[in-house]
Amino acid sequence: MTEQPRTAILFVCLGNICRSPLAEGIFRSVVAERGLEDRFEIDSAALGDWHVGHAPDPRSVAVARRYDIDISSQRGRQVGPADFARFDLIFGMDRENVRRLCRIAPPEARKRIHLFLDYALGRKEEVPDPYYEGEDSFAAIYWTIREASEALAARLAERPGSARRSGQASSIT
Ligand code: 4NP
Repeated sequence: MTEQPRTAILFVCLGNICRSPLAEGIFRSVVAERGLEDRFEIDSAALGDWHVGHAPDPRSVAVARRYDIDISSQRGRQVGPADFARFDLIFGMDRENVRRLCRIAPPEARKRIHLFLDYALGRKEEVPDPYYEGEDSFAAIYWTIREASEALAARLAERPGSARRSGQASSIT
């Protein structure tokens, strides 16, 4: 049987300790539930460098664990030039993430950068930064990311192989 090409997906936020590690863990879990592990390469990264090498925020680890998702072994890393060649879809959690990604990406990669909830759910909304917020905010973003991950998996499962060929222009307004 011929192997289908994999779609490589990168989730990006400011610190890579709260939102994007959750998105990586939740999307990985949703894909596994659907038996689609072999169809995707999944990773997350930060725009900032403060938390490079750090484990995710304990509040993200705790909310994921509540739903049997273990993200504790992830480690923070910063987005680099190689990521723009490697990933078919690059999702910023908020508009500032998308703006910064577009600023550092080579022009040909910009069409692969999207606001996560816009691409997944057709909602021009952000996954808000929970870093200075309470536990409730982590529960709220868990469910938002879960809903978006289910929709993204369903959308990508419908089309074979790399999403790169059908890349649409990014729209973050
Ligand atoms: P994240 O949250 O972007 O969802 O990982 C943040 C984590 C750390 C900081 C800001 C946001 N920080 O300023 O260190």
